[in-house]
Amino acid sequence: MPLVRMDKVLADMGLASRKELREMIKSGRVSVDGQVEKRPERKLDPTATRITLNGEELRYQAHHYYMMDKPSGLVTATEDREQKTVMDLLPPELRRMGLFPVGRLDKDTSGLLLLTDDGEFAHRVISPKSCVEKLYYAKVEGSPNEEDAAAFAAGLTLADGTRCLPAGLEILGEDCCLVTVTEGKYHQVKRMLAARGKPVKELRRLSIGGLKIDERLGPGGFRELTEKDLCKLLCELDMGN
Ligand code: URA
Repeated sequence: MPLVRMDKVLADMGLASRKELREMIKSGRVSVDGQVEKRPERKLDPTATRITLNGEELRYQAHHYYMMDKPSGLVTATEDREQKTVMDLLPPELRRMGLFPVGRLDKDTSGLLLLTDDGEFAHRVISPKSCVEKLYYAKVEGSPNEEDAAAFAAGLTLADGTRCLPAGLEILGEDCCLVTVTEGKYHQVKRMLAARGKPVKELRRLSIGGLKIDERLGPGGFRELTEKDLCKLLCELDMGN
């Protein structure tokens, strides 16, 4: 791993702001391999160095991965001048880590949203080339039927001529269904169902690949992915070691 400034290494852990960390370092609260280090600019390899803050050893992670149960009513963005974003639900230490949402759920869509600071991971989850299935629960106007399911399976053409990859539609009840897609075009699920004359009234993402929403989180809740969650996803993305 390339050498990184010590204040940046600590800031990436979300411990405090870079300015606060520089003060902590200068006041002698940080040690590197057992020696007090007062230079914030000191470069080190965080994967091969033992760093302590106030005597407590710090655990370095190259990247961070969280899941959120996105509530409807918030925009999926890192910042927005006018509207509340999903990032507003996170405490300052997580916002400082440079997390960003993986893909986008519409303002009125709820459910599983991944947050990470790993660009390669995000790219692979989103890319249709990875064939990662995203599963949605949709409540619609009208009744989804077997012809709709067949049209989804064949690959729909949307009202503006956009062609969609084959997708899944499973009828759950009179006015609700499960939809599985492997791509993430703008308003994709809504536009697919609208193309079949079944406008969406409610949309919730239930899973991404083998990773299911943790229903215990509740709207706006979030948690770090467990090692098991992450291994499952990384293997599907061919990023597992
Ligand atoms: N498809 C949509 O139409 N909206 C979403 O938020 C996600 C998928």
